Amino acid sequence: MSEATRVPRPIPLATKPRPRAAGRPGSGKTACIRTFGCQMNVHDSDRMRRMILDAGYAEVNAYEDADIVILNTCYVRENAVDRVRGHLGELNRLRKEGRVKKVALTGCIGAAEESETLRRQFGIDLVLGTHNTYELAEFVGLPTMEETYTPDLPGTEGEHAAFVTIMTGCNYQCSYCIVPTVRGRMVCRSKESVLSEVDRLVASGTRYVTLLGQTVDAWRHEGDRFCDLLEAVADRAPRVSFTTSHPSNMEDRTLEAIGQKDTIVKRLHLPVQSGSDRMLRVMHRGYKAERYRRKIGVFREAAPDGTLSTDIIVGHPGETEEDHEATLGLVEDCAFDSAYVFKFSPREGTEAASLGEVVPPKVAQRRFLEVLRAVEGNAFARNQRKIGGTEEVYVRHGANEDGRAIGETWSGHAVHLRTEATPGEYVRVAIESAGPHVLYAGDPLVETGSG
Ligand code: 5AD
Ligand code: SF4
Repeated sequence: MSEATRVPRPIPLATKPRPRAAGRPGSGKTACIRTFGCQMNVHDSDRMRRMILDAGYAEVNAYEDADIVILNTCYVRENAVDRVRGHLGELNRLRKEGRVKKVALTGCIGAAEESETLRRQFGIDLVLGTHNTYELAEFVGLPTMEETYTPDLPGTEGEHAAFVTIMTGCNYQCSYCIVPTVRGRMVCRSKESVLSEVDRLVASGTRYVTLLGQTVDAWRHEGDRFCDLLEAVADRAPRVSFTTSHPSNMEDRTLEAIGQKDTIVKRLHLPVQSGSDRMLRVMHRGYKAERYRRKIGVFREAAPDGTLSTDIIVGHPGETEEDHEATLGLVEDCAFDSAYVFKFSPREGTEAASLGEVVPPKVAQRRFLEVLRAVEGNAFARNQRKIGGTEEVYVRHGANEDGRAIGETWSGHAVHLRTEATPGEYVRVAIESAGPHVLYAGDPLVETGSG
């Protein structure tokens, strides 16, 4: 069973494999990219996709059709590594059969020491971390060009929705987290660079820009703070959102801007991790539960119809029943619209991995389910309130074989709808029913074009 049951947010965490994309005709070379983990990885995969296409490869979905396979990986929890091991085993088998020729391992596992063991065990051809992704260029036969594939360059020009990385790394040292080790310290991109990328994307047809980073609200550059950047982007792009934030950095004026600016999606993802002040201290989160509650109050007032999501870890070493009750209390008070609930997973090299007072797996499992049920109960009740209303929905994924498309309201709710509209278009629909994770719409009322 998956260690973390994910209550889906409107934005999918991993890219769906794409249909065959065009490489340079006649070369016949094929490559497959598999993405695991967060949106940073999705974005890095987009940049690698440009490299393989530039090098004349056609992108394929299945390993057995690929000459080169790139696994862009996540290291945040142990089950992420287990999954990648499974894929590496399968790739070894295909390599022995002479189908797949080369395998590259990139992303956060690539940046961790464990990658050396994996390289030897599975005979991986190329291992790259998160700071030297550009070296893939040489691997796929392009000239070495460090400058050409930096995060400063757009990975998704011409698409209806695009991620724009505004910062990389993280300056926090949360007890449980491997990210600062594999992604390094925070580096903020300049405002000019971000805005010129946004301008380029919008000019090429992008209608939805998501600002990306581990702690985007910590962004600052030459006197500007995150809110300044967000407002400037919101003045340029027709639809904007951002992820992920840290409660210690989140300013009231950013929360207010979410409510005020028409082009900002009214969704906030603000990981709390625990509702217990004692645990928040052990985790080195730098805030107390009360401060978090206050921030949520500001957000709810600024955007009453908006959606709030969070990350919660249960079973961190030392977590008592009282701490767990405090988390349940916070979940009730904040009435999250969705949450990722994780069972603590010890990551070698982090402080928490060597702490005593380990929570027994059975206890962690019970707490996990209790938090999950509390989140889902609230989310279901809040979603029910949307029934009967009319919403303008941005189509994110066009209709599948069953005719079902997936969209997003301005309040940040995910909606299943029936429409012929293509991704990037807006459709007006009535909400007919709702589950804990998604709203269901009837037929479109009026197609409102690309808004
Ligand atoms: N164990 C469990 N969950 C973790 N996360 C990060 N590290 C761990 C870990 N060692 C969760 C946090 C973070 C999210 C991306 O992953 O909740 O916000
Ligand atoms: Fe990890 Fe904490 Fe940084 Fe988030 S803020 S990436 S949980 S160290």
